[in-house]
Amino acid sequence: MGSCWAVKTFGHTSKAIFPRDFIGIRRYFFCSALLLQHQNCSIRIVVSCKLKNPILFIESYGLFPNAHPLFSVNSLNFSTVFQSSAKMPQRDPHQQYTQFYNVLDLLKSSVGRPNLATATTAHCLAIKIGALAHLPACTSLLTAYSRAKDFNSSLALFDEFDDKDIIFWNAIISAAVENKSYGVAMQFFVEMVEVGCGFDSTTLLLVVSALSHMKYSIQGKSLHCLSIKLGMLCDCSLCNALLDMYAKCGDLTSSESMFAWMESRDAVSRNSMINGFLYNGHPAKSLWCFIEMICLGVRVDTVSLSSAISASTALEELTSGQAIHGWGIKLGYKSDISCSNSLISLYSKHGDTEASELVFNEMVYKDVISWNAMIGGFASNGKTLESFDLLYKMQLTGYAQPDVVTLVTLMSLCAERMLLREGRTIHGYAIRKQMISDALVINSLLDMYSKCNSVVKAEFLFNTIPKRDLVSWNTMISCYSQNRQPKEAQSLFKKLIHQYSQWSLSTLLAVLPSCISPNSLQFGKSIHCWQLKAGFSSNILAVNSLMHMYINCGDLTAAFMLLEKISAKEDIACWNTIIVGYTQNGHFREALATFNMMRQETNVSHDAITLVNVISSCGNLALIYEGKSLHGLAIKTFSGSETRVQNSLTTMYGRCGHTKSARSVFGFCSSRNLCSWNCMISAFSQNKDGRRALELFHSLEFEPNEITIVALLSVCNQLGFLRQGKQIHGHVFRFGLFENCYVSAALLDMYSNCGRLDVACQIFTKSREKSVADWNSMISAYGYHSNGKKAVQLFHEMCESGFRPSKSTFINLLSACSHSGLVNEGLWYYSLMLSEYGVEPVTEHQVCIVDMLGRAGKLQEAHEFIKQIAREPEPGVWGAMLSACNYHGNIEMGRKVAEHLFGLEPENVGYYISLANMYVRAGGWKDAMELRQTIQERKLKKLPAYSLIDVGSM
Ligand SMILES: *[C@@H]1O[C@H](CO)[C@@H](O)[C@H](O)[C@H]1NC(C)=O
Ligand SMILES: *[C@@H]1O[C@H](CO)[C@@H](O)[C@H](O)[C@H]1NC(C)=O
Ligand SMILES: *[C@@H]1O[C@H](CO)[C@@H](O)[C@H](O)[C@H]1NC(C)=O
Ligand SMILES: *[C@@H]1O[C@H](CO)[C@@H](O)[C@H](O)[C@H]1NC(C)=O
Repeated sequence: MGSCWAVKTFGHTSKAIFPRDFIGIRRYFFCSALLLQHQNCSIRIVVSCKLKNPILFIESYGLFPNAHPLFSVNSLNFSTVFQSSAKMPQRDPHQQYTQFYNVLDLLKSSVGRPNLATATTAHCLAIKIGALAHLPACTSLLTAYSRAKDFNSSLALFDEFDDKDIIFWNAIISAAVENKSYGVAMQFFVEMVEVGCGFDSTTLLLVVSALSHMKYSIQGKSLHCLSIKLGMLCDCSLCNALLDMYAKCGDLTSSESMFAWMESRDAVSRNSMINGFLYNGHPAKSLWCFIEMICLGVRVDTVSLSSAISASTALEELTSGQAIHGWGIKLGYKSDISCSNSLISLYSKHGDTEASELVFNEMVYKDVISWNAMIGGFASNGKTLESFDLLYKMQLTGYAQPDVVTLVTLMSLCAERMLLREGRTIHGYAIRKQMISDALVINSLLDMYSKCNSVVKAEFLFNTIPKRDLVSWNTMISCYSQNRQPKEAQSLFKKLIHQYSQWSLSTLLAVLPSCISPNSLQFGKSIHCWQLKAGFSSNILAVNSLMHMYINCGDLTAAFMLLEKISAKEDIACWNTIIVGYTQNGHFREALATFNMMRQETNVSHDAITLVNVISSCGNLALIYEGKSLHGLAIKTFSGSETRVQNSLTTMYGRCGHTKSARSVFGFCSSRNLCSWNCMISAFSQNKDGRRALELFHSLEFEPNEITIVALLSVCNQLGFLRQGKQIHGHVFRFGLFENCYVSAALLDMYSNCGRLDVACQIFTKSREKSVADWNSMISAYGYHSNGKKAVQLFHEMCESGFRPSKSTFINLLSACSHSGLVNEGLWYYSLMLSEYGVEPVTEHQVCIVDMLGRAGKLQEAHEFIKQIAREPEPGVWGAMLSACNYHGNIEMGRKVAEHLFGLEPENVGYYISLANMYVRAGGWKDAMELRQTIQERKLKKLPAYSLIDVGSM
């Protein structure tokens, strides 16, 4: 092979080996660029890989005048493009010198343009003319490879040299930092010191920047000392690097003193300070630094501007952001990318997507961050369509393709809006673009599926991901908890603790909501224990979550004890946790008592959430006086103008039977939403004022939702308004609500109660996806129409279709048995309720049984039944017994039952009247008169009774 070169080609990859004896360097490299040319020095390597028979042509002009026509190696087929070497120019002694500088130029230019092909070309050329023996050329080449993101080649090149100088060492450390291999950079530094070739301030600067990325502030400090000792701190950029290092490590004090100490501060130092404050969560100081910079007349650059805009965004200071925007335009940075990106975020955060769109559209060149900022701006302002639109436009650009941030932004939008279909599309896109291995993408996908209630998909994803991090575990546990699969959540939690023994606060917050019933109290308590051990005992979020758990599990005392322990913290959130928890779980009195305590014993002031819940508690207890005081309090504390407070007041007045007050709250409400209308319609409907409810519906300013429809159907149901019911059925279709289970159940009820069992049957059989509520309504409909057999049959069909009968199912079934006289069946299902179907019998069921036995005349059995009930039965059960006695004229037992009831509920006039009627029927006028006397003495009032029928007009 001699002085010329030998090239081997291997299959399609066309690897070329340059033997050692040629240039003293032996390395492999890929000839990805097949045609390499540069100015007047030109080699052309043409590798044509035709199937399995690669043919290599090499043309060379000038460099190798003696170049022999190329020859084949390893039996490969070579042909030569130039046949005659006679035509080649002869070597000029100066020419090689010129070539050398040409190659050096090329190397330098390839440093500027990070491109692997250029770097490789330059390498090729350098080898050919032997330029690699010169350290500067080699250094440039090393840097070129590093810029082209090929750190391995830089390393290989570095290893080739034995006598390295400081610049060469600096180049490789810089390459390592650029490759984000900070540890490697540190190793090189140590090696460099050991070898004894010394170092300069640039070396230190590079090492400091590596340390700042690794957040090693202690090592950083020792480097600081070293710089002082060696007198290198006169280098301003080294000072800036140290300043930046301290800021990145969160040591703002050191950073500030460094800044104060520096003699010559340039824009970079100031920018480092601005960024440092911003990065460490002190946007106000950051902005202050920026203002100081302007006051001192230091010329601000785009970095300062964009950081200052970000600081205004963090401070929610729109005006200062706008001022900086103006300043930037004046300085001529109008089309700067980083400033515009910050501006997009600023305006989006203030909900002004129009302004951010304007900035976005004016940008001449947009990068991925600009697109992401704009998509994120639309997403956070609820403009779903616009953000997906922009995603589409982004893909069309070609230069800015969606990245992980884009996907995560959109995925959280899908999660928030429950857009399962769009979320799955993004999942598909992530797979196609091979971004699915990114932990961030996987975790946000998990979260999206969890929020869209798609547990199975989340589970599948979780089980198939190769590398789960703690966030994935937490998300999956939370997915089970939020989707009411407590067992799965708890067992996954145990697995995590057991197998991986790692956790965070999020783990605790994920698993606690799985304790939703008294059954999980034990588990909840052990989590409480674990929380204390794991060291989260003083965390407010953790404590709130624990209180919530205790309330959900029915242990109110434990929850309250927790509150007492932390009430010193004077945090409204804790009080709200308790008050909201009590209200939502039906402990209304406790909620009001807690509220009282909060007002009397602490300086915590309530907020709208507190008010909504205490008002709703008053409504549920029908405490009109307390409700009115709360209304006054709301007006006094300005939360009275909040729509949700006004809605809760409307509901409260409705529950207390004060439709007039409800109406006036509704009338004065300044910004009514659909919920306000629903509250008012329900208030009318609850107070048997169905006509007003329907009237109100006709003036509804919004598109009705399922709550409106259900309330209206119940009005029609009460009033027996079949015609209006049918109209509402029409609305159901118009607004596409027919698939809602509550709506279909309400429709069934309405038709069945208005005497159209046939229509109810039709709706039931036609509905594609039946819910438990539908089945319950249908069973009730058959019971109502005294078709107990059919109800029982339906009950079995329901169980066979895989539905679990609920408490209401049994109420409807037992009442159907009662209405149709199916006594044995009724007793049979009652006995199987708990053992077979896991439904705890409650008062309603017992009333049904007593009613059933009573109707069948089996008073003795009914009495026996009541006596064997484990806990003292509610008055309702005895009431049913009393009506049965009344019905059958059994005065003996009737009197006993009634006297028991007078003891239980002395205020209930119904029992007295019932007994009096019984006396009258049996001819016991005297006893009846005495009873009436008692009623008058006690000033008990009888509610008037009435019957209604729709006579065709309204
Ligand atoms: C060389 O190439 C010629 C034509 O391209 C072909 O016929 C011949 O078989 C090849 N020889 C070898 C050794 O591959
Ligand atoms: C670091 O170098 C390796 C090997 O050359 C390369 O694959 C990787 O992409 C580089 N990383 C960065 C961040 O440049
Ligand atoms: C770079 O080198 C390392 C170690 O020699 C090797 O594991 C890695 O695969 C290489 N990367 C590339 C992109 O060649
Ligand atoms: C409430 O504030 C007053 C005055 O600031 C203070 O004297 C009192 O001790 C505080 N009460 C509680 C329970 O913190």
